[in-house]
Amino acid sequence: MELSPITPHLGAEVDGVDLAQELDEQTFVQLHQAFMDWGVLVFRNQKLNRDQHKAFARRFGTLHVHPMYKDQTKHPEILRVKTTAESVYTAGEGWHTDVTCDEFPPLASALYITETPECGGGDTLFADMYLAYELLSDTMKAMLDGLEAVHDGAIPYVGSYKSTPPEGGYPRNTHPVIVTHPETGRKVLYVNSGFTSHIKGLKPAESRAILSMLYQHIASTPRLIARVQWQPDTLTLWDNRCTQHHAVWDYFPHSRYGERVSVVADSRPVA
Ligand code: SIN
Repeated sequence: MELSPITPHLGAEVDGVDLAQELDEQTFVQLHQAFMDWGVLVFRNQKLNRDQHKAFARRFGTLHVHPMYKDQTKHPEILRVKTTAESVYTAGEGWHTDVTCDEFPPLASALYITETPECGGGDTLFADMYLAYELLSDTMKAMLDGLEAVHDGAIPYVGSYKSTPPEGGYPRNTHPVIVTHPETGRKVLYVNSGFTSHIKGLKPAESRAILSMLYQHIASTPRLIARVQWQPDTLTLWDNRCTQHHAVWDYFPHSRYGERVSVVADSRPVA
């Protein structure tokens, strides 16, 4: 297995692994270490059917079923990411961490893109949330530590995607603003503009001001970012506990197609 870093701190291309094959223990251990070290792993020229895609993701844990597609009967764990000339939005076009409205948000997502726009474009940006935390002042870190924020599925799924909520509504959960990654022990900035509605215990204007400062910090700090340029048959695996991502819809009216499988974390995010 060979790794080629995309930036000095986030993202690496992985060569020499065929994800269609069952990974032996030694390969998985190496891959898992690379996942911890780089947060985003890019595998080119992969030929995967849905069962192989799911089998690869399952090595990291139990597969996630997306709250918007719970009733999908065949392959409920597969989330289709499809954008065409008829689309009114593209999924994930804004900085976010996947499904943080869940009590146990995904620990990882594996997006397999099979069709890229013929005009080029359609990249995905990833941002390093360890570094986003580290770049804050000590005073700001101390202020955020101990705060909790509400993450609400209705914000993207109803507000942006106009879907009909399931009975009882979409999940809504509270997580610490600064969490500790359960495997690396490093601190992570854990609010995102996709799902976070407010910080608890603050006045609405205070919460809005702090969240907008943090989102601005993420969006306007280029050194946080690794950019993945897709080719057909590329699979990208990201650690959803320490990264955010942003799909770039710069290819209208062309099309892009892929499928995502996510893995549920076995613990809640904790400070
Ligand atoms: C997503 O948010 O998972 C989709 C990202 C992408 O399509 O680039």
